[in-house]
Amino acid sequence: MDKKTFKDIDVAGKKVLLRVDFNVPMDESLKITDDTRIMATLPTINYLLHQKAKVIICSHLGRPKGMFNPKYSLAPVARRLSEILGIPVKFASDAIGESANKLISEMADGEIVMLENIRFYPEEEQNDDMFARDLAKLADVFVNDAFGTAHRAHASTAGVANHIPAVAGFLMGGEIRALSKVTGNPEQPFVVILGGAKVSDKIGVITKLIDKASVILIGGAMANTFIVAQGGNIGMSRYEKDKIEVAKNILALAEKKNVKIVLPVDTVVSKEFAPDAKAKTVPSFVVPAEFQGMDIGRKTAKIFKKEIKNAKTIVWNGPMGVYEFKKFQAGTKTIAKAVAKSSAVSVIGGGDSVAAIRELGFADKVTHLSTGGGATLKFLEGSPLPGVDMLEDKE
Ligand code: 3PG
Repeated sequence: MDKKTFKDIDVAGKKVLLRVDFNVPMDESLKITDDTRIMATLPTINYLLHQKAKVIICSHLGRPKGMFNPKYSLAPVARRLSEILGIPVKFASDAIGESANKLISEMADGEIVMLENIRFYPEEEQNDDMFARDLAKLADVFVNDAFGTAHRAHASTAGVANHIPAVAGFLMGGEIRALSKVTGNPEQPFVVILGGAKVSDKIGVITKLIDKASVILIGGAMANTFIVAQGGNIGMSRYEKDKIEVAKNILALAEKKNVKIVLPVDTVVSKEFAPDAKAKTVPSFVVPAEFQGMDIGRKTAKIFKKEIKNAKTIVWNGPMGVYEFKKFQAGTKTIAKAVAKSSAVSVIGGGDSVAAIRELGFADKVTHLSTGGGATLKFLEGSPLPGVDMLEDKE
């Protein structure tokens, strides 16, 4: 990475504003259901503590639209972090104001203060310069480890870097190195697996990776738009009518570039969109009128598995079916197993794909599990990441 990391600067005894992405999923009782993003930031936090820095942690949680909302408080996250680290994490009830100022002024070296959700302030998403300046005043140095939010040009991800020295943390560096491996010169065959609901989310990635990939496997509801583009009947299945032309263009481009796009041949369908809906498997191009697609079928999974087995490089983003319903997780889990079994360089991004790998206990069997959702897609499509661009360049 051509950006400075905190190893390039002296953080000992300094107040470090550490931007992390602790936007973690929680249930109704505010219990964290997946702490991957917290765990992924531990190397950075531990390094800073070891260096006796004063660590001021800043994050967003959810989309509270610039207003205080207890549902989005970071207090439970501070408690969880404290449990994991086994040391106190003092929690400021604001990010800029009395509580933060008091706790920070009382900090000893090697202590942690976590600020309240930065998105409780409208100025955050507006990247307001005065707000960024106030945030910068809390610390001597800014360390950005929030890869998951690096695609947002907000005050705490980008603006603050205009006011104090700004460098990357371990997680940020690791994400960029891993993702660069697949966007640079990937070993062939390079198999790209895409799923999820929308073609529109993935157009940039397909357009970029079509120049590098040998095979693109498409599952999830986004496959339906491609099936319609090829004249198939998808019944009541979800698809994007306004993206049919885009799908046609992608198919034509793939043919021109000799890239194999593989669509599902069979689909698990049901009449209702419900966790316990009665299901059956039908050919993907002739889904009966009153049914909708819920998962890829077994034949499709077998075809996808064969391509994955041959791969030397794999990128996977997005589930193959309605992953939130256990009954329709089979396709995604089959792909997760196949990717984990493969000896290819494998990079996986997106909540459900990463969750499938984790639930199966295969996290250590893949090269890289990205903590980013939108940020990972932006990186793969070659779009700028303001949270990275703003960091200081290496000399
Ligand atoms: C994410 O979960 O992808 C990041 O935390 C960014 O969240 P956002 O899409 O609300 O900006």
